[in-house]
Formats: sequence, C-alpha cells, structure tokens
Amino acid sequence: MERSLVLIKPDAMKRNVSGAIISRFQQRGLKIVGLKLLQMDNALAKRHYAVHEGKPFFQSLVDYITSTPVIAIVFEGENAIDLIRKTMGATDPAKADKGTIRADFGLDIQNNAVHGSDSPENAAKETTLFFRADELHAGY
Ligand code: RTP
Ligand code: MG
Repeated sequence: MERSLVLIKPDAMKRNVSGAIISRFQQRGLKIVGLKLLQMDNALAKRHYAVHEGKPFFQSLVDYITSTPVIAIVFEGENAIDLIRKTMGATDPAKADKGTIRADFGLDIQNNAVHGSDSPENAAKETTLFFRADELHAGY
C-alpha cells in the first residue's frame, strides 16, 4: 500500500469540477485517508513547490496556487503514486492522453486542475505539509 498527496487546484475549484476529479481517483480504487479544504498561504505554497524555486514560472505558480481555496487529499492504494500520475496525465493538458484528468479538465500548462506527488519521498513530505498524523484515517 502506498499513499500520495493530491491537490485540486484553483482552476478546477473555480469551475466546480472537484467532485468529478475526486471520482476519477475513486473509480481507480483509491481510498481517501485525509481530506480538507484550505487556503494555501505564500509560505505553504513556497514549501510545497520548493523544487521549482528559481524557475521562470515560480512566482506565477505561487500566485496561482494561492488564488482560491484548494482541496488537499491523501489517497491510499496499490501503487498509488504512479496510478495517480497516470490518471492525471501529462503536465500540459494539450499533451495529456485522452481520458486523463488534465486532458478533460485542464486549461493550460499552469491551470492543469490537479497536483499529485511524484515520488514516495515527496508524498511523505507533502503529506506532512498539509496534514497532522491524527487527521489521517485508514483501514475502512
Ligand atoms: P504537479 O507537481 O502540480 O503535480 O505537476 P507536475 O509534476 O506534472 O509538473 P511540475 O513540473 O512539478 O510543475 C508543477 C506545476 O507548475 C506549473 N507549471 N507551469 N508555465 C510553465 O511552464 C509551467 N510549468 C509547470 C503547473 O501547474 C505544474 O503542474
Ligand atoms: Mg510536480
């Protein structure tokens, strides 16, 4: 069993498609072990996207991810990290495979609907940024 952190991003929140996106993951058998609606502040956005600091799109990305509340979810399942990345599709919705979340709900390379952890190390780090241990509930 593996866990991964997903964010429903501002473009999807604004267009009211968070439920449809969460359903895509549930249809793959992933279980929700943590879920909250929150407004990310600058400090949390910079920590979450620290790996992109210094890149030309960094400030725009921080402004975007803090522009509306987001839904943060910890999913659990077999190969959850890879399964979630495949369900999301490529970063750029124009290049994402048909039937993926980003192909169906993303607008452009920044406004791409969803975030998913890209490694076990980052899944653990990101989960800690958004959830306390007592906010996670597994085994149901
Ligand atoms: P994520 O971390 O959100 O799951 O997305 P990802 O791994 O597919 O993409 P990553 O390279 O980690 O980029 C993080 C997010 O930054 C925005 N981005 N904008 N303007 C640009 O060229 C650009 N490139 C990336 C996207 O919102 C991307 O998901
Ligand atoms: Mg990434």
